[in-house]
Amino acid sequence: MPIISRRGKDAYTSPIRHLGPYADAAKATGKHVYHLNIGNPDINTPELALAAVRNAAEKIVPYSPSKGFTSYRKKLVSYYERFGIEGLSYEDIIITNGASEGILFSMFSCLDAGDEVIIPEPFYAIYNAFSYVSGVKLVTITSSIENGYALPTAQEFINCITPRTKAIFICNPNNPTGCVYTREELEELGDIVKKHDLFFFVDEVYREFSYEDDFYSVLNIKGLEDHVVVIDSISKRFSACGARVGALVSKNPQILENVNKYAEFRLSPPHFGQVLAEATLDVPESYINEVKIEYVKRRDLIYSRLSKMDDVICKKPKGAFYILAKVPIDDCVKFCKWLLTDFEYKRSTVMLAPASGFYATPGKGKQEVRLAYVLNSETIELAMDCLEVALKEYPGRVPTQRIPTNGVLKHD
Ligand SMILES: Cc1ncc(COP(=O)(O)O)c(C=O)c1O
Repeated sequence: MPIISRRGKDAYTSPIRHLGPYADAAKATGKHVYHLNIGNPDINTPELALAAVRNAAEKIVPYSPSKGFTSYRKKLVSYYERFGIEGLSYEDIIITNGASEGILFSMFSCLDAGDEVIIPEPFYAIYNAFSYVSGVKLVTITSSIENGYALPTAQEFINCITPRTKAIFICNPNNPTGCVYTREELEELGDIVKKHDLFFFVDEVYREFSYEDDFYSVLNIKGLEDHVVVIDSISKRFSACGARVGALVSKNPQILENVNKYAEFRLSPPHFGQVLAEATLDVPESYINEVKIEYVKRRDLIYSRLSKMDDVICKKPKGAFYILAKVPIDDCVKFCKWLLTDFEYKRSTVMLAPASGFYATPGKGKQEVRLAYVLNSETIELAMDCLEVALKEYPGRVPTQRIPTNGVLKHD
């Protein structure tokens, strides 16, 4: 048998999906599995957008321009204006196969193997995979559940800068922490990237889902035009994860030129995905407003249920649709697997994402799990019933400890 590559063997496995075969096996035995492991919402995609695909009259499904439909890119300019983002041209926007491809293209286009990117952890798990593929080193600053995963201070970022540092990377609103960063916090980071001539990657795929304060995009900050790369997607805001349409936005022509090379290699973003995405721009604002109300309801419910469970520590998230909880277990991967293989309550179980995969530092997050509140309230209640019983029955119980935080709790 030919020898498989080291790159293949060592490739990172997704903590969100790699327990999937255990979920399939559980379902094969007739067990119901509540999927709180993945941000795949149960909310309907806007009908208007689905209709655009249904009514499409194409006789051929062609490649689109590598940068995406020009008509869609032009319309996106007005979408960004709704967030006060001015001065963008459609030429600053390249359509990608989901945000996922946008992240990869950002790394490939701006960074060399061995370059360092400073990032607060926990972070969206798949950044680990993208940095692995591109040979980039993630330099992490660990934040803790006890202080609501507050953004590390400017000084903590500065302390991480070395001659190899090329970028700061944040996700706002944040998956998995649910933090939403303020204008002041973003401007402080902006000062650092300017002073040290770094790129500033900001994943804004949850832009619509800031529940307490108005969302402030890094694209609003003047003077950062050469530094900022925003990653975007319709997956979350329009419940259209399968459309595979994202965008990369930058005002730096050199970045765009390089991203375009990668865009040309892979030929085209999906045709029908873009038909759907373009139609989403005509969806009335009431759609998002209603979706937001629904997520707030679910967030409040899941937070209230978790905070009443023995020995569970969590903070109410302010954005996105995830909550991290510190739970009385020995190891989150073991626990999440056990939920699928050994546990059931009323012929059901719950699938969670082990949070250790959302850290780059080995050993971190072992007692944490991430829950996506992407199912309706009734289902969340049933899933929480399962989790509550599971935490009592789990043989590897280890009490949680509150690690004291020094200083002010920024996010309380
Ligand atoms: C923060 C973040 N970025 C990117 C992605 C990937 O999005 P897409 O479906 O557009 O590739 C996700 C998906 O969960 C996410 O949570």
